[in-house]
Amino acid sequence: MDIAVSTAPLDHVADFPAIPAGWSYLDSAATAQKPLSVIEAIDRGYSETYATVHRGVYQRSSEMTLAFEAARKRVAGFINAGSANEVVFVRGATEAINLVAQSWGGSQLKPGDRIMLSVLEHHSNIVPWQMIAERTGAEIDVAPLTQDARIDLDALGAMLTERHRIVALAHVSNVLGSVLDARRAAELAHRVGAKLLLDGCQAVPRMAVDVADIGCDFYTFSGHKLYGPTGIGILWGRPELLEAMPPWQGGGAMIDKVGFERTTYLPPPARFEAGTPHVVGVLGLEAAIDYVERIGLEAISAHEAALVREARDALSSINSVRLFGPEDSAGIVSFAIEGVHPHDIGTILDESRVAIRAGHHCAQPLMAHLGVDATARASFGVYNGRQDVEALVRGIERVTRIFG
Ligand SMILES: Cc1ncc(COP(=O)(O)O)c(C=O)c1O
Repeated sequence: MDIAVSTAPLDHVADFPAIPAGWSYLDSAATAQKPLSVIEAIDRGYSETYATVHRGVYQRSSEMTLAFEAARKRVAGFINAGSANEVVFVRGATEAINLVAQSWGGSQLKPGDRIMLSVLEHHSNIVPWQMIAERTGAEIDVAPLTQDARIDLDALGAMLTERHRIVALAHVSNVLGSVLDARRAAELAHRVGAKLLLDGCQAVPRMAVDVADIGCDFYTFSGHKLYGPTGIGILWGRPELLEAMPPWQGGGAMIDKVGFERTTYLPPPARFEAGTPHVVGVLGLEAAIDYVERIGLEAISAHEAALVREARDALSSINSVRLFGPEDSAGIVSFAIEGVHPHDIGTILDESRVAIRAGHHCAQPLMAHLGVDATARASFGVYNGRQDVEALVRGIERVTRIFG
């Protein structure tokens, strides 16, 4: 098979100072390594330009506020949002989904309303909905998967009713790598008058995302999976939805006027950003967006697709290996080896300097559906090349030899 596209042109490992020679980092779906440009942006943010935002009357703070708001605009452009005011800075996708569940769900859902999820969701797109369902009396439905491990949109469409108020789905599964037909999901949700929230954690590092083209209502992602810092993430929402949503956390920076009799709030996005924000994290996220856009999301998608193909081909020729997920998984390959616990796979691979994830991947309902407690997972990034796939396969062969 010709996998030229997967190696030399996109071997960006030299940009990543925390990846030593000979170490195969295959855990980008958990968190991506950081390129020097992101590390330098964070360094500059603390060592040269640091100040608070939105409050200072001095020049340094005004400049930092401008940089902070310019980064918001950059994020809006990255996902093709209509305006920077539709972009809310949060700690990560987990916080973004909790925000929507608590604020939108808390003000919109009532007994008898329904929430549609799917079997493959990450816990952070399950538990916040369970919490708000318990509080409001709404109920949760779970769409099944197709034979080839995608969210079954035919079944989901058939299950949707006018009582469904929101559909919340992973754009890309963190375990299976399956890519949702997001435009169709939006059409199905809107047909019954429901909103569509997409958990884009695993999509934004791997493909160009255009929220206007998809037609979703909320989109969430975490900066640290996009080669940016931890502690910063994005909630994008349609402006009319954000404007109608009450604040979910109170404090400084989100108020218009505070009195003991009555407090009024700023419009979005400030309404949802109580307290001092992660100023330098925002600058780091902007640098991460610059980094992936310099390489190009199309090139990244093609590169990871080629690595997935090569890994799946090689692993499927080993008898005891069971592969999960579709053939065209986006950058993620989950697998199991008959008679070997995934933790043992991970430990033995680590001895060969190959870092993978082993566990339930915060997707216990999906594990139950697959009939396993855990899987091993290799996930790719821009720093990986053919040599990493080869190291993975050599490591797996060693595991099978050790376990006979
Ligand atoms: C699909 C998906 N959703 C949500 C999350 C939660 O992201 P975070 O822990 O950065 O909030 C993850 C992280 O693993 C994920 O893969």
